[in-house]
This record gives sequence, structure tokens and C-alpha cells, in this order.
Amino acid sequence: TIWTGVTFEPQACETILRRTYGKMAVKRLHEKHGKKNLVLCGFMGSGKTTIGRKLARLTGLEFIDADIYLEAKEGKKISEIFAEKGEAYFRDRETAYIKELAQKDGIVLALGGGSVLRPENVAAVKETGLLILLDTPFYRIMKNLSYSTNRPLLDKPDKQAETRRLYNARKALYHRVADIAVRSPRLSEVLEKVVKSV
Ligand code: S3P
Repeated sequence: TIWTGVTFEPQACETILRRTYGKMAVKRLHEKHGKKNLVLCGFMGSGKTTIGRKLARLTGLEFIDADIYLEAKEGKKISEIFAEKGEAYFRDRETAYIKELAQKDGIVLALGGGSVLRPENVAAVKETGLLILLDTPFYRIMKNLSYSTNRPLLDKPDKQAETRRLYNARKALYHRVADIAVRSPRLSEVLEKVVKSV
């Protein structure tokens, strides 16, 4: 303002600062760790797609949702793939696409909730990216999943009990494989954790 006479809204300044911060983080990730991607993992309904989109905007990276990518490539919804070809087929396709996506250069990748079950998927994404766990509390997950119709694994008479069972069964694994974990994740916290870790 002193130099140019132009004034900025505080909100605009904050956005600019955040984006600068986001771009710095990606640059350091590349320079110090030789990695180019930010990869989000976590249980279904943990906010991977929502936060991933925003994180991509902040960092200037391209956003890719692995499930949407798989659906586009297969020409079918995930629920249809499960119904017609079964989970084993889905998992094989998932692995193939994850390996393909891990080769990309500078993306924010939101993984499907079960992607980390296979060590080869974890190894592929960690080779080129920082694996970030969105450690969302169970009550928020339930809330986020309440309108979901495209999660065949939860298509059971008692959806809440099945969600709880799977959540408990996977929780430790998510923590074990991730490079960093963000509790009750919001965009600012994810960004801060990423910056601190690189
Ligand atoms: C799955 C999670 C889903 C999807 C598929 C299986 C899982 O992705 O890949 O229904 O095993 O947890 P989201 O986590 O994006 O819902």
C-alpha cells in the first residue's frame, strides 16, 4: 500500500499468505525429500476429497481423487463395480490406478479409504509423495457418511455398527503407514502439519 497506493482486504492478504505458505511447503518437500505429491489417506467420510481440493488450490497442485479417477477409467460407479465384479476385482483395479497416479508429478491425491490395506499401494504413493492421515473423529465420519449411497462396504442392515467395526479394525493401520497424522482435520491444520514436517 505504501509503495503502490493499492489497498488489500485482510481476507485477500490471508489467502495470498496461505498460498505462499502452501507453495513453500511443496517446494521444500521436493528439495529436501525428493517428493512431489501430497497424498491423503483415512477412513471413508474423513474429508479426503473436500480437504484435498482445498489443499490443491493452496499449493497450486492438481487435485485427483483416486475413486473418481477409477470410476472414470472403468466407466462405472464403485457400487456397480462391487455389485458386478466383486471387491477383489475392485482392489486389483485400485492398485493398478494408484501405481499409475503415484507416477504423476505434483498432485494432491485423495486415496480411497481401503487403499492402504495393500502394502504395495502404500509403497507406491510414499515413494513419490508425503502420506497424510486425516484422523477424523468417528462422530464426524458418521455425520459425513449419513447421506452416502456409493460405499458398498457399508451397505449393511446396521450401517453404524459396520462402520464402527471397520473403523476400529483399520485405525492402527492408518497411523502405522502415514508419514503424518492430523487430528480433527481442517485445511489450516493440515497445511501447518505439512509445513512443520517438511
Ligand atoms: C473404500 C472406500 C471408498 C471406496 C470403496 C472402498 C474402503 O473410498 O474406495 O468404497 O475400503 O474404505 P472413500 O474413502 O473415498 O469413501
